[in-house]
Amino acid sequence: MSRATITVDRDFTVGPVPRRLFGNFVEHMGRCVYTGIYEPGHPDADENGYRLDVLDLVKELGVSVVRYPGGNFVSGYNWEDGVGPVDQRPRRLDGAWHTVETNAFGLHEFAGWAEKANVEIMEAINLGTRGVDAARELVEYANHPGGTYLSDLRKKNGASDPFGIKLWCLGNEMDGPWQIGHKTADEYGRLAQEAGKAMRLVDPSIELVASGSSNRGMPTFGEWEQTVLGHTYDVVDYVSLHAYYEEKDGDVASFLASGVDMDLFIDGVIATADSVRARGKHSKFINLSFDEWNVWYQTAREGDDMPGTIEARGEWHEHPRIIEDEYNVTDAVVVGTLLNSLLRHGDRVSIANQAQLVNVIAPIRSEENGPAWRQSIFWPFARMSELARGEILRLSVTSDRYETAKFGDTDLVDASATWDEESGRVAFFFANRGLDEAADVEVNLRGFDASRITRAEVLEIPENGDRFATNNEQSQDRVGLTPLASAAVDGGTLRVSLPALSWAVVELEVSKA
Ligand code: AHR
Repeated sequence: MSRATITVDRDFTVGPVPRRLFGNFVEHMGRCVYTGIYEPGHPDADENGYRLDVLDLVKELGVSVVRYPGGNFVSGYNWEDGVGPVDQRPRRLDGAWHTVETNAFGLHEFAGWAEKANVEIMEAINLGTRGVDAARELVEYANHPGGTYLSDLRKKNGASDPFGIKLWCLGNEMDGPWQIGHKTADEYGRLAQEAGKAMRLVDPSIELVASGSSNRGMPTFGEWEQTVLGHTYDVVDYVSLHAYYEEKDGDVASFLASGVDMDLFIDGVIATADSVRARGKHSKFINLSFDEWNVWYQTAREGDDMPGTIEARGEWHEHPRIIEDEYNVTDAVVVGTLLNSLLRHGDRVSIANQAQLVNVIAPIRSEENGPAWRQSIFWPFARMSELARGEILRLSVTSDRYETAKFGDTDLVDASATWDEESGRVAFFFANRGLDEAADVEVNLRGFDASRITRAEVLEIPENGDRFATNNEQSQDRVGLTPLASAAVDGGTLRVSLPALSWAVVELEVSKA
């Protein structure tokens, strides 16, 4: 049995929970769009071709904002191909994912879906093969009320009201040599500055995200942000971060500590952005948009078809199966810790998008003409999106530790918490990284008087003891949440016993002490 002591104080808060932390990502990649959110002819599809079974799961997941249409895809994409009469839209080769793109789904279809899903749109523009003109024209098409060629074209294409898209990404992973139209930091910084400026001249109310590093291990990390923000500081509001984690070479200890890497990445980007602020004598702060994050088994596995790698390229197909990772219990615990890291940094991380929403490294899976179901990683996201409300609480954690090859000694227990004064609820999100031992956690609730536990659930290794257990089409509910029996509250103290390798949520009804 390991131990942890956590103290929270009603007066020590990080800031309000940013709703945009619970974002996700829909890319024209594999089966995320086609046979994912969109499948005309599916028994559960509506008249627009939107899969209502998937839509229900998206709502249950509690997604607030969805980035679209890529990803690597966007760096070769002409937005004009995806508007207008569907039968006149061009079929194109998408070099990023070695796929035939039919363009049957485009901006109007996505905006219609986003409205039904009740999510905000975060639109990415192509700064790989295109530039200033296409960017400002897209903003005019999407956001200008009418009376100009492009806004009237939108009306003619069926949308009389503007889409009113506030959030825009200036390209995608432009630091990556794999990116179509990859650029140096200076080349990208200047282009982003001019594209952003031109976009704002069309609609001054938009918010802009500069493309940051594709991960913390990039050789240009740090320098990239310095240079790019040096060019764009006055124009942009956010800088992006992307990170994917996986269990490599059997090193589960380091994998479980992925949240430490995320903490370091976030802290590093904050430090860099603030140094540009200081040197440039700027008054505003640049906040962070962690607009791609997840567990992704990128290291090729036998039998995987990964069209992003040259070796795997073969025939060109429409929406092939790409990286449909099946997530296990360990992955769900790691996702829980990544969410904790994002929430703990909610004063500077304003936006976060798990990548991706359906089928492609996703919490939701669907089969063509078949069912849709929840993966293990669905649960920490859904519960945190539902219960993290009000203010983020600052935590003081003293936990037993364990040894990891990549990050040295790491806390066995990881946590985050929120307090919603309006509903009188405090929510805790815990992870126990201990593979073999349960963890006894004592939480001191300073300034709170807790009357009862309103929710206590846990995701743990199923009875057969298999931490690699997953859900799939045949067994859709093998991994999920069950009641957490071992939680008790007594005024100012919460006691919880977390099973080995588990993620748990405990919500309390509190009043001010
Ligand atoms: O989400 C999958 C891919 O990962 C995205 O297209 C790209 O931006 C990242 O490298």
